[in-house]
Amino acid sequence: MLRTHTCGDLTKTQNDETVTLCGWTDRIRDLGGANFIDLRDRYGITQIVFAPEAGDELLKKAQKLRSEDVIKVTGKVACRPIGQENPRLATGDIEVRVVDLEVLSKSEVPPFTPNQHELPNEDLRLKHRYIDLRRREMMETMVLRSKIIKKMRDYFADHQFIDIETPILGRSTPEGARDYLVPSRVHHGKFYALPQSPQIYKQIMMIAGYDRYVQIARCFRDEDLRADRQPEFTQLDIEMSFVDSDDILGLIDGLMAELAKSILGIDLPLPLPRMTYDEAMTRFGHDAPDLRFGMEIVDISDLAGAVDFQVFSKAVAAGNYVRGLNAVGAAEKYSRRKIDELTEYVKGNFGAKGLVWFKVDENGQLASPSAKNFSPDQLASIADRMSASPGDLLLFLADQWDVTCRGLYGIRKRFGTELNLFDPNEMHFSWIVEFPMFDWNEEGKCWNAMHHPFTAPRTEDLPTLGSNPSQARAQAYDLVINGFEAGGGTIRIHDSDTQSQVFSLLGLTDEIARERFGFLLDALSYGAPPHGGIALGIDRVVMLFAKLSNIRDCIAFPKTQKATDLMTEAPGSVDTQQLEELRIQILESSPETDQ
Ligand code: AMO
Ligand code: AMP
Repeated sequence: MLRTHTCGDLTKTQNDETVTLCGWTDRIRDLGGANFIDLRDRYGITQIVFAPEAGDELLKKAQKLRSEDVIKVTGKVACRPIGQENPRLATGDIEVRVVDLEVLSKSEVPPFTPNQHELPNEDLRLKHRYIDLRRREMMETMVLRSKIIKKMRDYFADHQFIDIETPILGRSTPEGARDYLVPSRVHHGKFYALPQSPQIYKQIMMIAGYDRYVQIARCFRDEDLRADRQPEFTQLDIEMSFVDSDDILGLIDGLMAELAKSILGIDLPLPLPRMTYDEAMTRFGHDAPDLRFGMEIVDISDLAGAVDFQVFSKAVAAGNYVRGLNAVGAAEKYSRRKIDELTEYVKGNFGAKGLVWFKVDENGQLASPSAKNFSPDQLASIADRMSASPGDLLLFLADQWDVTCRGLYGIRKRFGTELNLFDPNEMHFSWIVEFPMFDWNEEGKCWNAMHHPFTAPRTEDLPTLGSNPSQARAQAYDLVINGFEAGGGTIRIHDSDTQSQVFSLLGLTDEIARERFGFLLDALSYGAPPHGGIALGIDRVVMLFAKLSNIRDCIAFPKTQKATDLMTEAPGSVDTQQLEELRIQILESSPETDQ
């Protein structure tokens, strides 16, 4: 070992001991004659001192040190003079008076320093990730991530789960995204697909009798990236046999309670609350609502159908909905200009046709340019339905169900932050259950699986699955934390007839279903136990437990929004020879193919 202690170890207990430390030079202060340096490593910071008594030669050497040099120092631990202690540092009571210095590695002038107050722009951080990862916050997040993963592994090992690895090079596993493909050199024109999830393999493990499977699994999805999505991410992937939904929810409840307790010190009351998909859409307009605050959607379609205001009455006559939100106490904060901007926001982002709004005046009357279209009684009924009080701002969308859901969800989310409607330190966990089996794909004129094609319908919906697919509800569940989908799973279909029926409802001909999933249909016909599972997005769980707003901050080497790695410059070009071996020819790029 080059060192006797780390930079986070030393306290008064080691006073007078001779120690050797290694680390990076953080803050350097030259106080005319003496040099004070904060020496940093993963464990902390220790102040080291080059005092005149140590001799000119050593002092001169120390004066040549620059930010981020890697050094080894030997010296004596000394209590800091009274009044010079730093209570913010674990080692703040002591310093090390250096007698020997060895420079292990010089650093070029870094593009930014790990201790600088203002965070450099993200591209620079990603390009020089080795420096960014030296920042204390990044180190803390990486340690937290490792702790969370350890807790997960221990929890499932304690519950008799077996850790099993599944292939990275395989057949496509549909989870709703595009595949990342890997060309085969030995089978010209054929491709492996990187797994969007280990879904099919874990089901096969159940059929093989391994009734409790767990894997910390890498997944790959070529989809539009957002603050909570990466093209390559990690799942805590679970599958179990001879269980129902309650068993899986109960198991994950237990895991969440352990994580909340050990990581955040919170006692999570169990069972975690559950809400059906239909209720979530009705009350919050989304299947992953942020339940840290209220501001629920209110339906006034029955009142709106009777008014002279065409925006409302026509919508209701066409079978659409008028739904709104009461932003309590927000009337003053939202000027006319701000409301206009909000109107453009819902029009531009959610396809709404406009936004009707009212401010509630000091007498409880609704005031707005639209108010002239309503009778006083009608306004009073709306105010009553919305539980309006003076100073409130009421907002309404008149549209198809989906548009009102999306638009009001968007406004609610914005207002939650803008009006400080929740405590950012609160953690809210809940389950959304009973998702629809399918949603209608207007473009393809077919049904899409809402979760994935292996999901079982509720038993009571099985007889009418073919005749009434839109009403069928799945044995599906999502874990939602603070308005983010942290995990999702289902009970699976375990007989090949139902599986074939679902494939056919999804528009797959028998031939295509056999070509893509023949092995699964075969496996299902050789003794498949009832089974189900779930996958949690580990990156998202870490992001939420670390109270970060961006998934990239909890991944050591993330990709940008454009799916590139700025440090290694992946994806990169390859040799012509490699392409020739694969028999791949690159076509000229065009605006369409470059998208
Ligand atoms: P699903 O597709 O819902 O289910 O994924 C499970 C969880 O993985 C996380 N996740 C992501 N995290 C980061 N970046 C992404 N691009 C990304 N996509 C998904 C989310 C999500 O809840 N095989 C099923 C699970 C099952 O049925 O057992 C599946 O993959 O937190
Ligand atoms: P207009 O009659 O188009 O001038 O719109 C009058 C008000 O109704 C404006 O505030 C519009 O933003 C709003 N509006 C128009 N269409 C809708 C709609 N479908 N839903 C909600 N508000 C709307």
